[in-house]
Amino acid sequence: MTKSSETAYDLVVFGATSFVGQILTRYLLETYGVGQSVKWAIAGRSESKLNTLKGELGSKAKDLPVILADASDEAALKAMCEQTRVIISTVGPYALYGEPLVQACVRSGTDYCDLTGEVQWIRKMVERYEEEAKSSGARIVHCCGFDSIPSDMGVWFLQNQAEQTFGAPCRDVRMRVKTAKGEFSGGTVASLMNAVKEAAADPKLRKQMANPFSICPPDHRSKTRQPNLKGAEYDKTFNAWLAPFVMAAINTRVVHRSNALQNARYGKEFTYDEAMMTGRGAKGRLAAYTITGGLAAFFTASAIKPTRWLVEKFVPKPGEGPSPEAQKAGFYDLRFVGRTEDGKTIITKVTGDQDPGYGSTGKMLGEAGMCLAFDIPADQPGGFWTPSSLLDGKLMDRLTSKAGLTFEVLETR
Ligand SMILES: NC(=O)c1ccc[n+]([C@@H]2O[C@H](COP(=O)([O-])OP(=O)(O)OC[C@H]3O[C@@H](n4cnc5c(N)ncnc54)[C@H](OP(=O)(O)O)[C@@H]3O)[C@@H](O)[C@H]2O)c1
Repeated sequence: MTKSSETAYDLVVFGATSFVGQILTRYLLETYGVGQSVKWAIAGRSESKLNTLKGELGSKAKDLPVILADASDEAALKAMCEQTRVIISTVGPYALYGEPLVQACVRSGTDYCDLTGEVQWIRKMVERYEEEAKSSGARIVHCCGFDSIPSDMGVWFLQNQAEQTFGAPCRDVRMRVKTAKGEFSGGTVASLMNAVKEAAADPKLRKQMANPFSICPPDHRSKTRQPNLKGAEYDKTFNAWLAPFVMAAINTRVVHRSNALQNARYGKEFTYDEAMMTGRGAKGRLAAYTITGGLAAFFTASAIKPTRWLVEKFVPKPGEGPSPEAQKAGFYDLRFVGRTEDGKTIITKVTGDQDPGYGSTGKMLGEAGMCLAFDIPADQPGGFWTPSSLLDGKLMDRLTSKAGLTFEVLETR
């Protein structure tokens, strides 16, 4: 911890009224209670919405403190930071609302984690605030939801196992989504569409976003070509058809930054990609082509003004998302295959209960915040970290013991 434990709170949830913030708040309340071993508060811009949320959470939440702050009010954000050691933010799209809070955390030495998957924004934050975070001691950890904890911690776990079993990390790792049952919320769709809109308007940004090392430190570059599935393809390892995976564009960047921040522990020539399995035979093939076409249509239509309104009409609006029943019925199963330079293979599996984007994301984000508040030593330097490079095995213990994730080796040969 960077700040003394004299602050009023260990942790503040900013954006507690967002779709995912409500899930997170309920999770923290049920897991840690109020005013017990964890001192925490909820925050947001609307007092009435925060009080309605408390009412919905029932009597257990009656003593849950509330802090008011608008995402653009620098004085209010500074005052919020002064009261806590860690802030978890779900106020997004982060590219639109997130910068003043990152700045306030960096300036006050407050640890911070969030759910952004907006690569262009992360890069901007690193460029603008990394030096200041290093000197203030603030540890900033973006991407603490489904993007990118299962991928980032999944690769970290696979590499640990490879080092233990083969004495060397895997040079090439592929992640395949075997199953992911869940829906998008309005907030996620708004973030995706904003990223597409920004990229469509700026060719330099498009180029930057296409670079797999775009959020790595400038001295971490590799000449090895990174695989990048753009259309339907057959995967012989898993005997399944593959389609592009929408989260690959952020997860692959986070995994490369993790490698860089661990002094290229996975190797300078490390390659990583992600795709979705759609099944075998004609049905799998048809699904792979349908998903590829659907994604292309969504991104093309979201990029240009004449069709963007049409997309907006049919996608969930901010504040909307899957029902509690759908969240509980959701789950995911990710497979990782790694190969060392001398041809040894390891296959691992990561699963999560509840739907990836909300039920599971709320728990992962909550435990990332708890991990920052209670598990990370004070002498761990400030800066822009990734989940695995800062929170490592301490987060993994929390994910498996509290947040419904499993990490398992299936095969080594
Ligand atoms: N990484 C992942 O796996 C993952 C998963 C889910 C979501 N996400 C991301 O998480 C974010 C939240 O998603 P969501 O669906 O929960 O969003 P949402 O329901 O649309 O909520 C947005 C939140 O931002 C708050 N907000 C907006 N402008 C504000 C301002 N000026 N000051 C203070 N608060 C402000 C809203 O406050 P009010 O309630 O007062 O309107 C609301 O709490 C999005 O960026 C989404 O992309 C990521």
